[in-house]
Amino acid sequence: MGKHLNLPPGLVTLADHREHARRSLDARTWAYFDGGAADEITLRANRAAWEAIRLRPRVLADLSGFDPGTALLGRAMAAPVLVAPMAHQGLAHPDAERGTALAAAALGVGLVLATQSGTPLEEVARASLPEPDRGPLWFQLYWLGNRAWVRELVDRARRAGYEAIVLTVDAPVQGVRDAERRAGFTLPPGLESPHAPPVAKGARLAALLQQAATWDDVAWLASESTLPVLLKGITHPADAALALEAGAAGIIVSNHGGRVLDTLPATAAVLPEIAAAVDGRVPVLVDGGIRRGTDVVKALALGADAVLVGRPVLHGLANAGAAGVAHVLRLLLDEFMAAMALCGKRRVAGLRDAGLVEAPSRP
Ligand code: LAC
Repeated sequence: MGKHLNLPPGLVTLADHREHARRSLDARTWAYFDGGAADEITLRANRAAWEAIRLRPRVLADLSGFDPGTALLGRAMAAPVLVAPMAHQGLAHPDAERGTALAAAALGVGLVLATQSGTPLEEVARASLPEPDRGPLWFQLYWLGNRAWVRELVDRARRAGYEAIVLTVDAPVQGVRDAERRAGFTLPPGLESPHAPPVAKGARLAALLQQAATWDDVAWLASESTLPVLLKGITHPADAALALEAGAAGIIVSNHGGRVLDTLPATAAVLPEIAAAVDGRVPVLVDGGIRRGTDVVKALALGADAVLVGRPVLHGLANAGAAGVAHVLRLLLDEFMAAMALCGKRRVAGLRDAGLVEAPSRP
């Protein structure tokens, strides 16, 4: 199939996709997509933490009726995987957010569309919604502008068919991105920003991000919104508790792919204490450095209900548009299913088993 879809040959892992994308994207765009904050300690820690966890599978379990499917917020999905919100996907490939949405929907993977999508949310929804086996379709929200603007954007997402709001809470200002600055990356002028507040046209994102939300705003949004609101960027169990008090419908354990505040712990390291604080009351998701099916198994064993995968999706997109994204997701799902079976689990619920992993001390 590779030939027809112009998928480069020899890509059998997400790391292969990354390497191919690194060679084909221009250095500045690569720095933007790939870079982390400052010394990239958190960026590396995310990856190192998943790698350092050892699996302790049990053999000879009955695997009949094997099913990698799960449910989130009452919605069935093919596997516990969603595409993380990522800005300006058109910089990777002209298929952009629409291509990502088509691929995710075809594979039953959930999709979180970024506020900073270059493609209008309605267009992305039209690519996703017709697929009967698609995963959840969520909209990521940055708190830009005032409550009236937030209400309007949430309502617009709901009308278009989005099923939840993912409020990013860890980036009131942009991170210090040395790699981007070194490479001289700037967002191209005239980049489409169909969800920017009216006052924002032409304004710098960094300035907008200064209008930071507070817990009061979260409580307001959770009560006002007709859609469930998940908080993305929680790394402290005390914040997980506050999120529940404020009415959050889910928690996404994330350090923004190591792109905002450097020297935060790896998400794998803080996931267990946050899962314990949440205690099953709402779904807990995790992202940051998920590159292998075994990482997904480890995340679920440590208390996550699902994972989000970010950069690898951009790599697939850069390599072959929608087909490349589909390939990346297929590889990850196939690895996940193999790992799940090899761990002796026939149901995703069974993966919530602390005995399945030997977690190292916090890196
Ligand atoms: C980033 C912001 C846009 O990580 O979320 O680039």
